[in-house]
Amino acid sequence: MEGVMPARILVVDDDAISLRVVQRILAKYYQVETATSGSECLEIVRRVSLDLILLDIQMTGMDGFETLRLIREDEKSAELPVIFLTATDDAEVEARGLEAGAEDFIRKPFVPKIMLHRIRHVLEIYRLRYHLESEVSRQIEATVEKQKKLESFVEQTMLTLAHTIDAKDRYTSGHSARVALYSREISKRAGRSEEEQRVIYFMGLLHDIGKIGVPDEILNKPGKLTNEEYAAIKKHPAVGYKILNNMESIHELSVGARWHHERYDGKGYPDGLSGKDIPDAARIIGVADAYDAMSSSRSYRNYLPQDVIRGELVKGRGTQFDPGYVDIMLAMMDEDKDYRMHEGSEMDAMPHSV
Ligand SMILES: [Fe+2]
Repeated sequence: MEGVMPARILVVDDDAISLRVVQRILAKYYQVETATSGSECLEIVRRVSLDLILLDIQMTGMDGFETLRLIREDEKSAELPVIFLTATDDAEVEARGLEAGAEDFIRKPFVPKIMLHRIRHVLEIYRLRYHLESEVSRQIEATVEKQKKLESFVEQTMLTLAHTIDAKDRYTSGHSARVALYSREISKRAGRSEEEQRVIYFMGLLHDIGKIGVPDEILNKPGKLTNEEYAAIKKHPAVGYKILNNMESIHELSVGARWHHERYDGKGYPDGLSGKDIPDAARIIGVADAYDAMSSSRSYRNYLPQDVIRGELVKGRGTQFDPGYVDIMLAMMDEDKDYRMHEGSEMDAMPHSV
């Protein structure tokens, strides 16, 4: 390109005198290559990196039009600017040349000032276009990179928050992360879009965030809870809702927190919603949450066998759980032949990238 190095221009003309004239005009400003036929031109184009071609139209053998067509066919030179050299002032020829993809015309006999002016003009346009294209693609790449970093930062932050929530309760190590994965898988199988799956995943991560407001002694109490203690635990959906409702960028997050303990038959809490009145994502998380509770160990029992969990899910189908999402969870269990989906399995080390 013009600038640091002088531009490299190939002049193609089967007339030796004309070739020499052009070479003399350009030599002071540019690196000049010459060719005396269309085929020699194509050979140089393949071999040398050029900035511009001055191409004679009327040549014996392959003429300028045919040569230009072949230059455009090659990916390497498809965008290379070409100025036609012509002895005629036939408007028809000029129109054909422009249609064939020439940038401009320079007429014989050559007037050095006009020739130099036109060449400079075409080179400048190409230089600007080249810079603009590379600048635009550089900017796009940088933006995509930044976006990726930001997304991974958001995900890591939420995962950390999920681990913090789970750390409060010694019975629920890794619970939120697993609920997030199960919920995302259910939503994927239910045909949700990638963006919806992503949001449900985040909802799953933070569905129990309200537990931050429940005293540790109650959460970790080994024996039976008193009515007051149970009431304190039941506050966590509303507390979580309050915390997440302020996050305007992902407003839906609060939905999972508030309604994941609702029941399909309306006997859940905190609002006693039933059926499809319970937000869709909360119904998904409800199934995932219950599955993970049963497939996690407690101080008084190991994680439950698959057939017991299956039985519980079937029993709760349409009463505690949305039947459609229970069916998806059951299908996931059927595929889980070696019972990998439980606390303490490789599930806990699964990659979480969303
Ligand atoms: Fe919960």
